Amino acid sequence: MKILFTASEVVPFAKTGGLADVAGALPKALERLGHEVIVVMPRYYSINRDNLEHIPGPLGVSMGPMGELWAGVYSTTLPDSNVRVYFIDYEAFYGRSGLYTDENGFSYPDNDNRFIFLSKAAFQLCKKLDFQPDIIHSHDWHTAPQPLLRNTRYLNDEFFINSATVLTIHNLQHQGQFYKGAMDVMEVGWEHFNPYEIEVYDGVNFLKGGIAHCDALTTVSRKYAQEIQTPEFGFGLQEHIKAHSHKLRGILNGIDYDEWSPDKDKYIVKNYDINNLEGKKECKRDLQKIFDLPIDESKPVIGFVGRFAEQKGIGLIAQAMEGLLNLGTQIVMLGTGEKWAEGFFADIAHKYPDRFAVYVGYSNELAHKIEAGSDMFLMPSLFEPCGLNQIYSLRYGTLPIVRATGGLDDTIENYHPMSDKDRYRLYSDNRADNTICVIGTGFKFYEASADALYHTVKWAIDTWYEQKNDFRAMQINAMNKRFDWEKSAKEYIEVYEDAIARRRD
Ligand code: ADP
Ligand code: GLC
Repeated sequence: MKILFTASEVVPFAKTGGLADVAGALPKALERLGHEVIVVMPRYYSINRDNLEHIPGPLGVSMGPMGELWAGVYSTTLPDSNVRVYFIDYEAFYGRSGLYTDENGFSYPDNDNRFIFLSKAAFQLCKKLDFQPDIIHSHDWHTAPQPLLRNTRYLNDEFFINSATVLTIHNLQHQGQFYKGAMDVMEVGWEHFNPYEIEVYDGVNFLKGGIAHCDALTTVSRKYAQEIQTPEFGFGLQEHIKAHSHKLRGILNGIDYDEWSPDKDKYIVKNYDINNLEGKKECKRDLQKIFDLPIDESKPVIGFVGRFAEQKGIGLIAQAMEGLLNLGTQIVMLGTGEKWAEGFFADIAHKYPDRFAVYVGYSNELAHKIEAGSDMFLMPSLFEPCGLNQIYSLRYGTLPIVRATGGLDDTIENYHPMSDKDRYRLYSDNRADNTICVIGTGFKFYEASADALYHTVKWAIDTWYEQKNDFRAMQINAMNKRFDWEKSAKEYIEVYEDAIARRRD
């Protein structure tokens, strides 16, 4: 199959979150299965043109009242693959410091035009390269105009006659809601401006339009595919999604185990693997040293890595914090985002320098060190479409403490303690296969409350102190889990085939 993949961020070129990880990894996995994929993304200011190949000739993109705009195109390949990435170069849209927001966190006021432009440029680029896609795969609101464009502007275009569309929702909270003038820029015709297609409260909603028009719809876990059809998680689109649920499927993201494996991780002070966790102790000491905490093996360390956004449960952590810090643990956090949270956690670090530390910023290296050096990983998200960090944690034998939602619920198995009698029998026999008897890879809670969070962290810490054998057995369970891209990529191929069949009908 020939697949066009358009995304607003792609590892290693530009990243704010997990979308970039997926956009950098899934195309490679599809290529390994024998398919031809091209990836299209903006040439943001931070992406240096000097390292890219220039594709000669400008690319014309018609933008309604703005007329035809001309972009440059640059290209390279995704690392360790032949997957071509094409960068749409248009200074007035992408020559800025941020991807979506300015330094103060405000969305750029012309984000509608910036991403309509990207969505359309990808179609034009296919023509320029003579790349006739079987599948047009769009991601999140940024490129959600593509299915609608395919069904309108490109409906009778011979070049795309065989192209079916697939839209993946990575996060329903962000929908691309704009003033209705965007209709004219998209050039799709006002008859589509209605509540069954793209209209919401007299404005346009890119994601809604994409959901209505795509041939297949996916999201990044099975649980989230169910959740987004409910008022709690649907962000107002639940009924619309329900109406299209016949074409919806949840496919869990995979993990790049070349990048995230303690046996070959180049950022950590000592490598280790499932047969020997000694190295992990050294990683813990290193982490305590870096974060200027007392170097103390006798206390558990709980790690957190992620955007400081409400979604990630930082409000719950903040409410529970003082209680957590009295449970005999150290906590380290890495993240940026909401200013109140950056300030709040910095204050806590100041107040409890012997048990809490935070690094406000973005650091891939520190993220690796936290995964390796912590005993447990905290991810109490209010909603989580998939989540990657908890899956990395499993690999590092760092037991996740999670709220049972979306991908967190699908990837983590709750600890199920044995009775004391069974435990005595098991460990006194010294059976080598005790791991199969201890159920679980982490600790889960259900209610989105600081209380539930507190008690679950306490449960995890008590287990660490008092049930060392169980804890160790769960680490083995966790490290044995696999979430490979190959499996997910095969599921995407099935979705692509469904989309093609649906388009033919
Ligand atoms: P989301 O996409 O909602 O942010 P995911 O768990 O899917 O959540 O992906 C987040 C990705 O971003 C992970 O690869 C994580 O390691 C990374 N990440 C988030 N914040 C930081 C940070 N401050 N420093 C380094 N990496 C980060
Ligand atoms: C989103 C979600 C996250 C998911 C990622 C990649 O940003 O918040 O849960 O893992 O996309 O699909």
